[in-house]
Amino acid sequence: MPNPIVTVQNLSVEVKQTGAKIVRNVSFSVEPESVTALVGGSGSGKTTTGMSILKLLSPALKVSSGQILYKGFNLSAFSESKMQEIRGREIGVVFQEPLYAFNPVFTIGDQIDEVLRFHTQQGVIQRKEKILHLFDLVGLPDPARIYMSYPHQLSGGMRQRAMIAQAIAADPDLIIADEPTSSLDVTLQAKIIELFHDLRSKLKLSIVLVSHDLGLVKHLSDQVIVMKQGEVVEAGKTNTVIEKPQEEYTKDLLKAVEVK
Ligand SMILES: Nc1ncnc2c1ncn2[C@@H]1O[C@H](COP(=O)(O)OP(=O)(O)OP(=O)(O)O)[C@@H](O)[C@H]1O
Ligand SMILES: [Mg+2]
Repeated sequence: MPNPIVTVQNLSVEVKQTGAKIVRNVSFSVEPESVTALVGGSGSGKTTTGMSILKLLSPALKVSSGQILYKGFNLSAFSESKMQEIRGREIGVVFQEPLYAFNPVFTIGDQIDEVLRFHTQQGVIQRKEKILHLFDLVGLPDPARIYMSYPHQLSGGMRQRAMIAQAIAADPDLIIADEPTSSLDVTLQAKIIELFHDLRSKLKLSIVLVSHDLGLVKHLSDQVIVMKQGEVVEAGKTNTVIEKPQEEYTKDLLKAVEVK
């Protein structure tokens, strides 16, 4: 068995000022080329757990115990500049709302180019070719036009694809996708999940998919971690958790979306 990409060990996160625990004793591993879904109701600690892996916690929060290993290295030992190298190059991020991920005053092409300039040694022609190829890979029509477009000139679904192109630009091993489809309509949600599925096998990526929607993660994830009020209440292989949920909470989540 190869070593996990990420191992979260007994992670607890608290609010600095009040000491309130918002993530409690969470453990799971992300194997290479696998998809892990973090699911649970609003406020259950999914985003906090995902952001802990990137060391992007809000300044109001701190890891109070436990640790996260990235390819066997303890993240707590990494400086901010080391983390800047890791973010994008090793771990890509996709957020819920792509409008916040892109700066409105620069073209989409320029912003993805910045990722490549920062993380790779490629020259200008090579970078442009790579970006046009990325647009093609994520199913964006007319890559040359997308390159020159400003974020507001694309539809929501196209921006989401552009953000995925940005996340995979520097060939990371892991993508953290936090509710990557919830700002889209149902048809587009299915298409984006399909795209992740496709990329995962083409690029040999691991994905941590944060979602409250068990239906959406069913087709994509290998394992599901169910969170409630900061704790893991159930975890296991996706099929097992979905077909034979043990906890009432998981059953309720399943009922809410009527997983088919
Ligand atoms: N900076 C902060 N200061 C205080 N509490 C916070 C802070 N950030 C998050 N929390 C609290 O931590 C809990 C977990 O938040 P988190 O964003 O991780 O939940 P989530 O599972 O991602 O929810 P959602 O599905 O709504 O995105 C929530 O109760 C939230 O209010
Ligand atoms: Mg969240």
